[in-house]
Amino acid sequence: MLQLQKPALKGRNILLGISGGIAAYKTPHLVRLLKAQGANVRVITTEMALRFVTAETLSVVSENPVLSPFFDPEAKTWNNHVELGLWADAFIIAPCGANTLAKLVNGQCDNLLTTAYFSARCPVWIAPAMDLDMYTHASVQANLLAFAEQDHQSIIEPNEGPLASGLIGKGRMAEPEEITQALVDHFCPPNSAWAGKTVMITAGPTHEAIDPVRFIGNRSSGRMGIELAKVLAQQGASVHLVLGPTHLEAPHWIQTHRVESAADMHAACLKYQSECDWIFMAAAVADYRPSQTANQKIKKSEKDWTLELIPNADILSNLSSNRPAGQRVVGFALETQEAESYGKSKLQTKGLDAIVINETGPHSGFGTETNQVLILGAEGQRYETKTEEKSRIAQTIIDTLEEWFTA
Ligand code: CTP
Repeated sequence: MLQLQKPALKGRNILLGISGGIAAYKTPHLVRLLKAQGANVRVITTEMALRFVTAETLSVVSENPVLSPFFDPEAKTWNNHVELGLWADAFIIAPCGANTLAKLVNGQCDNLLTTAYFSARCPVWIAPAMDLDMYTHASVQANLLAFAEQDHQSIIEPNEGPLASGLIGKGRMAEPEEITQALVDHFCPPNSAWAGKTVMITAGPTHEAIDPVRFIGNRSSGRMGIELAKVLAQQGASVHLVLGPTHLEAPHWIQTHRVESAADMHAACLKYQSECDWIFMAAAVADYRPSQTANQKIKKSEKDWTLELIPNADILSNLSSNRPAGQRVVGFALETQEAESYGKSKLQTKGLDAIVINETGPHSGFGTETNQVLILGAEGQRYETKTEEKSRIAQTIIDTLEEWFTA
């Protein structure tokens, strides 16, 4: 029975690759189930698959053209496998026959489906389907093992039952409900406290323009906020990442809103605040901006130049004091000294549920790959991490807040 937190796949881009096999007749139903969960679905088929299911049916149910050959003979266009591979948040190959499986394992790409697989950066699932003796054949089993050994690749085991040959045994493609469930469990892990929650994370620096070519900025890379966004999205949260000007990119499966200045960031936060259950303000927001921004490049002169700065609004305090009931707000503080006492006072004055404090050092703070933080809760909770990769720190922050606030 399909256990769904609706719509568990909202906004997720699912690429469905269909290889040749009788089970292909079940794929329109699979597309329907994925669409019902809010996914965007695009379908690629091998030529052989179209002997078992029609492109027209798949295109109607997926609401997208079905892509099969490299070249579209009518439109005289090239079906770009790289673009497809990058578009996908998840790639399912169902049914995956022995021939396609062998190609995936051996780096052979002679059709659009296999080239899209080699271009994909997302997790890949295969739902093998083949006749009994093929499935149990030593070379197929070796290929299955080799496939599953790769990171982010999983097999949705076939079922036992009557096969197209008349034989009875293992080899029937998993049912569309089971395939959909595997994706739902991936995107909304069962029992995750974050599944179905909407969160907003700000990250990175802000740039306050002086003139068209100069700005006041800071050394934040945004890495900590991006890592938090990844952890929360992987735990099933729907994430708005409001990202300042940094060279780092968030993964394409995170809904990212790029901003430049503190004022832009404030506007973006106000736009999404009402949807959110949690706000994480990890951005290093500039406290001041130039009182005026010149339209043209300011020319040098021999005289002294004083740049007048005016304060920016405190976004966090503003969001915290105007929050809807039940919304949790978490701030961040980067300090160069007396981190705990400064952090504690920000926790109180900004009216936060929790604050994540870090003190600059060779292995923590701006621009580093690692971090070490102290997390304080409004009810006196306290947790200090060791120095770790920012991705692990992000996981610890989320686990700690989950324990404090959702247990
Ligand atoms: N913050 C904000 N808007 C600002 C300044 C800061 O939302 N204009 C947020 C930051 O994103 C962070 C928290 O407030 O979550 C603390 O930021 P920090 O720069 O450490 O503290 P400030 O309040 O700016 O105080 P100070 O610079 O004096 O330490």
